Amino acid sequence: MKFEKEINRRKTFAIISHPDAGKTTLTEKFLLFGGAIQTAGAVKSNKIKKHATSDFMEIERQRGISVATSVMTFEYKNHLINLLDTPGHKDFSEDTYRTLTAVDSVILVVDSVNGVEEQTRRLMEVCTMRATPVIVFINKMDRDGKNRFDILEEIEKELKITLHPMTWPINSGKDFKGVYDIHKKNLRLFTANTKANDEDFVAISNLQEDKLDKIIGEKDANQLREDVELIEGVYGQVNDNEYLKGKIAPVFFGSAINNFGVQEMLDTFISIAPTPLCRKTNTREVCPGEEKFSGFIFKIHANLDPKHRDRIAFMRVCSGKFERNKYYHHVRIDKDVRFSNPYAFLARSKDVIEDAYPGDVIGLFDTGNFKIGDTLSEGENFYYIGIPTFSPEIFKELVNKDPMKTKQLEKGIQQLTDEGVAQLFTQFGGNRKIIGCVGELQFEVIQYRLLHEYGAACEFRHLPFYKACWLTSKDEKKLEEFLRFKQQNSGEDKDGNPIYLAQSEWFLNTEITNNPDIEFHFSSEINK
Ligand code: G4P
Repeated sequence: MKFEKEINRRKTFAIISHPDAGKTTLTEKFLLFGGAIQTAGAVKSNKIKKHATSDFMEIERQRGISVATSVMTFEYKNHLINLLDTPGHKDFSEDTYRTLTAVDSVILVVDSVNGVEEQTRRLMEVCTMRATPVIVFINKMDRDGKNRFDILEEIEKELKITLHPMTWPINSGKDFKGVYDIHKKNLRLFTANTKANDEDFVAISNLQEDKLDKIIGEKDANQLREDVELIEGVYGQVNDNEYLKGKIAPVFFGSAINNFGVQEMLDTFISIAPTPLCRKTNTREVCPGEEKFSGFIFKIHANLDPKHRDRIAFMRVCSGKFERNKYYHHVRIDKDVRFSNPYAFLARSKDVIEDAYPGDVIGLFDTGNFKIGDTLSEGENFYYIGIPTFSPEIFKELVNKDPMKTKQLEKGIQQLTDEGVAQLFTQFGGNRKIIGCVGELQFEVIQYRLLHEYGAACEFRHLPFYKACWLTSKDEKKLEEFLRFKQQNSGEDKDGNPIYLAQSEWFLNTEITNNPDIEFHFSSEINK
């Protein structure tokens, strides 16, 4: 295998969670371990929100929420770790879905107090769809949370994954005493804000030892014995292979803000998380160790520097070695392109790089040539598949407020939808332009950006649709007939794929029942 050493030391992953579960705090602790930031213990989680990861866009500064996805690279114990940040706000979850296509594994943070929430469920669906290996971190054990068994059951049931506890907490909230590592058979007592040193672990090879009662008290020792017996009975043995296949998720308990349980998880992560894997394209599977470079664009970000209207395309390197100033083939537009300033990221600061290897994510300056899902190769014509797009939840008609700026509006909306900010549909019978988004906030982003970047004023008119379904059929005629008959409720997406716009679940179910020859899809592949 080519570049074996480089590939084997890389781990590319994302942390996903419901907002406020502790993703930023955990990210910060990882960066501290990796030496990527120096202010040990002193940096508050909201500082990293403000200064490091995600305030690229003006609108985000105004609202103080995470709009962007950025990449943080750090070294830890001879591994090169690429951590892809995901926006916490639910209105930007399409961004997160796509980021999940660029990683090899995921750490899921669950708040021990609030448990699983709606957004986490959707994100896990994408992981399950792609069989992405997941490690679960149950955070905020220093607060009075749910019963530990109940929370595991809730995660398993809600997220449809099988868990395997690696550590087990002794109480929670003000009685939280620490965690017992079920596999390494040692105990780590809770201390706030420290790094784990070897001497912090007390080896307890047999839970029946009196030592345990002396350290944590008889009552808690007995409870721990009982819990661990139950866990061993219910959860059995952990198997790395099952984790790598995305079938079993190891679970750690801790407290990110107190830096407790974080290093243990990071150590397990680097030992079991997958290095870059082979990926599917429309023609064949492409493996990282292949001689020739290839990669795909999973995110496009505009306005990195508010003074310029530049765009940065985030590319995941999938095979071979990417080199600065070398010509690569842009498969979709069938052109050769080269990049003189490819960037690697550390939060907001960016460094020009000479080369990059599979697993790396680099930023390429783009003047409008890229769309989400585009593939670059060294000549071979294939494109990476498995990049999903989901039905939006809110639909609005785009209304031009300034007829003199029609061209700017058209260009702006094309480019913004290429970036994946929203989905654009054209309704049959009237050619109405319909913008579909996951959340209201995106409409504000679009309106703001169309005006500030393209000088085009627009407004939105609410439409009574509830879902867009992509339609396929083996019987072309039947599909044509359906689209003609349902003109008011049908149209096409940006790539000309037919869609049905349902007014309600009832309408949708009725159409599905009445049209057995037509398939209604709730998600679509960006590259088909
Ligand atoms: P997010 O990125 O997932 O949205 O969450 P973030 O890390 O910003 O954490 C959300 C809040 O939870 C923060 O409090 C953070 O300090 C707190 N937090 C994170 N981990 C723990 C933990 O282990 N225990 C406890 N008790 N709290 C935790 P905040 O008040 O919103 O912000 P801040 O002023 O503390 O920064």
